[in-house]
This record gives sequence, C-alpha cells and structure tokens, in this order.
Amino acid sequence: MPAPTALPIWKIHADILRTLQVGNRLVLVAPTGSGKTTQVPQMLLDGGIAGDKMIVVLQPRRVAARTVATRVAWERESKLGAEVGYQIRFDDHTSVGTRICFVTEGILLRWLQDDSTLANIGAVVFDEFHERNLLSDVALALVKNLQQSQRPDLVMVVMSATLDAEPVAAYLNLCPILVSEGQSFPVEVEYLSHPDLRPLTLQAAEAVERIIHERNPGDILVFMPGRGEINGTLDALRGLRTQERVSCIPLHGELEPQEQDRAFAPNSLRKVIVATNVAETSITIDGIRHVVDSGVARVARYDAERGIGTLLLEPISRASADQRKGRAGRTAPGTCHRLWTVIGHKDREARNTPEIQRSDLAEVVLLLHSLGIREAATFDWLDKPDPQAVERAERLLTMLGALHEEQGNLTPIGRQMLRLPMHPRYSRMLIEASQRGCVPDAALCAALVSGRDLLARLDRDDAQTKSAREMFEDSEDSDFITLMRAYDFAKENGFSFERCRSYGINAQVARQVEQTFQQILNAAQQQRLHDRDAAPVSAAKNEEALRRCIMAGFADQLAKRRVPGRPECDLTEHRQGQLVRESVVQAATFLVAANLRDAPSRGASSLTLLSLATSVKPEWIAEMFPQHLSTTIEHLFDAQNKRVAAVKLVRYRDLVIEQKAQQRDLDPIASGRCLAEA
Ligand code: CDP
Ligand code: MG
Repeated sequence: MPAPTALPIWKIHADILRTLQVGNRLVLVAPTGSGKTTQVPQMLLDGGIAGDKMIVVLQPRRVAARTVATRVAWERESKLGAEVGYQIRFDDHTSVGTRICFVTEGILLRWLQDDSTLANIGAVVFDEFHERNLLSDVALALVKNLQQSQRPDLVMVVMSATLDAEPVAAYLNLCPILVSEGQSFPVEVEYLSHPDLRPLTLQAAEAVERIIHERNPGDILVFMPGRGEINGTLDALRGLRTQERVSCIPLHGELEPQEQDRAFAPNSLRKVIVATNVAETSITIDGIRHVVDSGVARVARYDAERGIGTLLLEPISRASADQRKGRAGRTAPGTCHRLWTVIGHKDREARNTPEIQRSDLAEVVLLLHSLGIREAATFDWLDKPDPQAVERAERLLTMLGALHEEQGNLTPIGRQMLRLPMHPRYSRMLIEASQRGCVPDAALCAALVSGRDLLARLDRDDAQTKSAREMFEDSEDSDFITLMRAYDFAKENGFSFERCRSYGINAQVARQVEQTFQQILNAAQQQRLHDRDAAPVSAAKNEEALRRCIMAGFADQLAKRRVPGRPECDLTEHRQGQLVRESVVQAATFLVAANLRDAPSRGASSLTLLSLATSVKPEWIAEMFPQHLSTTIEHLFDAQNKRVAAVKLVRYRDLVIEQKAQQRDLDPIASGRCLAEA
C-alpha cells in the first residue's frame, strides 16, 4: 500500500490549511479515491484547525461511517473509538478522547438538540455532499446558521467528487473552492445497441459473463437498485457457465458488518461484487476494473399536494452514471457497461433532485421549530423546499398536537416528540399509548416500520410459506398485529435464520426490530411515558387501545370502504384509493392506513394503494377529534323512492362518516317533491 501522503489530495494539503486558517469555510472537489474522506479530517486535526475541539465528519451512509473510521484509526495506529471513532444508530464507538468522529447526519441533528451551539465541536465536514440527502441539507443550513449567529470559529468543509461547487460556494457566502485533479484512468463506455426488455438481473449477469469470456483481467462491480435485485443477479450468475471460477459477493446496507467486509477483503479468485448505490461514491473497493450498471435506483418521492408517497424504480441521473463509471478507472484503464442505449442516456436528468424537494417534511419542520426556526419555507436553504410540503407538514404537526392550533408554536407534546427517535406520527402514537396503558405495543409498532420489511413478499406459488404465515393473521383488526405476531414468533425462536425463513420472516430485520424496540422503550421511559410498575392491561383490551393509538397518529388517513367486501375506499381531502389484497382488514367499514402510496401505473391516473391498515370505529373519531367533526342536514334525492329526503350527514373533515335519514318528511314544496315527480 502506498503511504497515505502519496494520495492526490496531499498535493493541495497546504492550500486546504491556509484557506481554513484565514477563513472558516471551504468547498473541496476531488475525484473518488483521492483521499478526501480518510485524509482531510486528519489534515484538519494535525493542522490544529479545530483547536482542541472535535472534528465531525458527516456521512450519508452507516456502512461508510463505520468502514472509514476503522480505516482512519488504523492509519493513525490508534484503537477504534479512541482518537478516531464513529457513531451511528445503535452503535457508538466514541470516547471522551475522540477527536475525529464519523457520524450519520441524524446523529449531528440530535446533538444539536442537546446543545444548540455544538460547544465541543470545532469543525463539521460534510462528506459526499452531492447526494443531497434531506438531513445533509438540513444540517448544512443549520450549521451555517449557527456559524453566522454564535460560532464564527466553527469550521465548515463541504466535500464531494461530483458536486456542482459554485452554487454551494455561493450559498456559503462565496467561500473558496479547491479542486484536486486526482489520478484516474480512462474508462471505455459501452451502451446497448437497442433497448432490451429482459430482466436487468439477467442482462447484468450476461454482461459479467462477456467480460470474463473476453479474458479482461480485474474485479467487476455490478450496480443494482436493491437487495432483491442483488439476490436475483447472484442467482442469474450461478446459472451461467464461465470457464473461470469467480467469487460473487453481495454488498448492501442490510448485511451484517462481517458480510459487508467480504467485498473489501482480498480474494484469490476474481471478485464480482453486486452492490447498491453504497458503492457509488462512499466506499472504495480496490481492484475494480469493470462496472456493469443497471442504470436504475429506487427513489422515494412525496406528493405534497395529496400527502402520498411513492417508491419507484427510476433511471439514475447522468451525474450518478458518471460516478459509477468512475469506479472502474481508479487503478488502471477500465470498462463500463451501461444497460441502456445512447439515446436513453440523453433523456436522463443531468443530476438528482435534492431530497428536500421530494420528501415528507414533518420531522424536519418539527426539528426546526425546536431550534426556534418557525418559518421553514423561507429559511436560508441551499435549495428551498416546496412551500406546499412545508404547509402539509405544519398541518400534520398541528393535527398531532405538536404545534399550537392558533399560535403555531411548539406545544409540550411537540417537545416530547422531539425526544422520541421516530416519525412524529409514531411519537404521537406512543404518547397516546401512555394514556391508554399500551406503550410497549405502540413502541413495537414504531420499531416494526423503522427499517426494512419484516415479512418478505411471497411468490404466488409459495403456498407453503403462505399457509405458514396465516398463523400470524389471527386478528382481522390490524396489519400491525400480524407483524407483531411474526416478530414474537421470531423472538421466541431466538431469531433463528432457518425457522424464520420458512415463515417468510427476515430474521435479520427481526433482530434489528428488537434493538429499535428496546431503544424506543428506553426513550419512552426517560420521557416518563412508560411505567414498568403499572398493572398490565388484558390482551383484548390492549388491542383496542392500540388501535385507538394508531388512529391518533394517522387520523388524516382515515378511509371508508365504499361497498362491503370491496377494496375501494374514500379518504379525506377527496382522495380515493384501494386497500391492498394482503391486508387482514377486509371486513371493517372504517380503517386508517399507515401507508399510502401511488402504485406504478401505465395510464394517466395513478392508483393509490392503502396498506398497513387498522380497523377503527367512528365513535372513536368523534371522541378523539371532535374539532374536525361537522353535522349538516342536507336534502338528497333518494333514487329508490324517487323523492328528495332530508338526511343528516356527519363528516370528519370532508369525509362523510355517518348518514342518517331524518324521520320527518320535509314540507313537499321546500323538499322539491314536485321536482322529483317530474
Ligand atoms: O474520499 P475519497 O474517495 O476521496 O478517498 P478515500 O476514501 O479517502 O480513500 C483514499 C484511498 O484510501 C483509496 O484510494 C483507497 O486506496 C484507500 N482506502 C482503503 O484502502 N480502504 C478504505 N477502507 C478506505 C480507503
Ligand atoms: Mg470519500
């Protein structure tokens, strides 16, 4: 291995230090592999840029935070967690002596709530900033604000390989930009000659086979959108006949750390690594000479006007594709095989839309309020969020009781929510649960939705697993209850991989749910929401209590089934949707859906799917949300009896939840009976 000082970033070492000795901001652009992540924090430390305070390096991915911290500790010959550490959710490797700390953005935002001046931090490094995650945009805006108002000594460094540096530098009051050329080799790009409609997993496997067949040396990196496609590609690779023996390795965020490390470890065979976006910029795998790019990623979007999200496969931007291509030219000339056509390439977006412009902003708006920033829409952002999304977030927070109805300021409930590590809807559920004696159940619900899916989607023909799973579906009242049963089963079986798999449960997700569950319970305890000594409530009573809590968090997603036995539902705000077939809630007329999303569709109008449903009773609505109920008497034409009748309508917001014919007929003239007879 070459000495770190041979890395390209060292050529601008003096410039970096000089810039930060004079000013407190810097934008740094250097190609992947040039040493930004591992070297710059050390330069700041050894150059005394942060005084005796800590240097925090923000990473968009947990895998990266962990692996680079390990690497930097090793370079400095210190134990991980001593001088160099990292902190991600559930995993804190820091100590009082830690001077360089790699963290995910959420961790920094939590620190900001504990100490709004970040007194023990001397520098914040925003790494991989081109990704433009929601939380990294929020962190940038808040740290800039803090630097300007109270901490002029705080140093900010924004780094990336592919960043559009000018807008960021302009945003940081025209701060200096440093560019390092770095070393890279030419990469030959190959497109499809015409569109191929076969599965991407198969196409990727064939591209790998071609590379091996042509006896091009070097490891191969395949980009796929997610775990499912990665496994599909690995299956397809097993089906191929190649002369050479290769080692096929998955790499994604759901793997155990030891499994992730396989991608980095030396191997006597040629490695074929099938990875998600995590390998796009954050981590460097030496020896890659060929890239096979599926060209798609799963992107979450949010329609703020309707409050409905999507998670669809989308073509990646040209900037992302170039980044992926670059992974092949780090150590020698390479090749990049794009599974799309040249014409298709021109149609792609130049760069990704920042997440702040396509997300549900409830958590962010709540956080800003806690820091005294009440006008999220007009805050000093790099790219402003959609005002409609801010407004929807404020409306939701008001409904949840986190913001005051009239003054719009944070309520005590809102303050309590900030201390709970989850979306405000689930915090609200937990607070409701503390009144109804079912905190552990509500905490478990929140934990169950905090990560990946616990229950795998079943294939149509997997009748065996399907019937095994029915044992979790003993309640027709809530899909959460099914998940809770599945989790209980996994726990009772010691989270055994084999036992779980035959029931379609992801054992690793179940283990993670357990950790999250405990963390939420601890937070609830700290907030005095949970009292271990309280008398337990009977199970049947508990189930109803839990359903009421779920309604408290999702009342704006109340749905009314149009016809018994059919999936079509009406929602508030004139929205409509269909309950998914897998839901256990097939009988109830009223339900709340914790998940609303638009399904992929070919036509002009999209179909909204309701899932994660819970049956509720209209009386609960009247009891819990009296302020949103209205009663009117209206004259409706009764087609059956061919006359106009007076009807009493009870609405929750704009959704009719009760309709009752009035006893007494109206005066024939006023009721327009003549009209009906005509
Ligand atoms: O951040 P950037 O992409 O600019 O580079 P880096 O992550 O700091 O990596 C610099 C060099 O350190 C890479 O070229 C790798 O050779 C090496 N490195 C490594 O071998 N193992 C790691 N876990 C991280 C970096
Ligand atoms: Mg890096």
